[in-house]
Amino acid sequence: MKVWVNGQILPDPSAPALAVNDHGVTVGDGVFEAIKVVDGQPFALTRHLDRLARSAAGLGLPPVDDALVRSGVAASLEGEDLPLGRIRITYTGGPAPMGSGRGDEPPTIVVAAGVMAPFPETTAIVTVPWLRNERGALAGLKTTSYAENVVALAYAEERGASEAVFANLAGNLCEGTGSNVFYVVDGELRTPTLECGCLAGVTRALLLDWFGGVEVDEPIEVAEQADEVFLVSTTRDVQGVTRWNDRELPAPGPVTAEAAAAWRKHEPELLGV
Ligand SMILES: Cc1ncc(COP(=O)(O)O)c(C=O)c1O
Repeated sequence: MKVWVNGQILPDPSAPALAVNDHGVTVGDGVFEAIKVVDGQPFALTRHLDRLARSAAGLGLPPVDDALVRSGVAASLEGEDLPLGRIRITYTGGPAPMGSGRGDEPPTIVVAAGVMAPFPETTAIVTVPWLRNERGALAGLKTTSYAENVVALAYAEERGASEAVFANLAGNLCEGTGSNVFYVVDGELRTPTLECGCLAGVTRALLLDWFGGVEVDEPIEVAEQADEVFLVSTTRDVQGVTRWNDRELPAPGPVTAEAAAAWRKHEPELLGV
């Protein structure tokens, strides 16, 4: 892994590099992005930086210095051999008092690049008993306050699944801990709207452009009974679902296979862009 913090490459990427009172560490006051790297090139970097800026604005953090972050991305990739990798950008409130109030120090920016193991073509998922709050202050923001996802993913893993799926307060399908959900009912490919409180996934938006699908909010039970289900995300691309709770599904089903093929066809268009 190669790590860049506030303008400098760390000589030792695993050495301590943040202040213990960094507001990202003490209260999760920060935002982040995970970006796929293919053959050394970041995928859809501009879209990820746009979302980083939106997440930062949503938290009320100072505007992100786009050029500085891009220089961090370039520095963290330089000289690395990454046929398949991942960049993580983290942007926090910086050093601050040990409470919820912010300090007046500049934000912290971390860029880390390392290898990524490919995800399997299919997987199992589980609905969790906790709900996404589509009316909360953090709805739709990619913040470092992700402990709820940690708890949910552990719940899913204990049940032999690799992703946990949330309904929202309205009882509608929302998203996974790190993925958006697509499903097929009566031959129609569907995914929740952004009003459901899910993250506006880069993969979700691109797949809607490149392959299509209808955005609709409906009870999670409808999706749980779908003919086909797949997850989309930076790390999973298009991943078929073989089991949702106790229900077995054909995976990858025909629509999933077509969506995955469309993804593979178009992905090169956004390498280095
Ligand atoms: C909560 C959540 N939903 C959806 C996604 C998928 O977004 P993307 O396609 O941009 O990776 C992520 C990404 O990790 C996420 O954290």
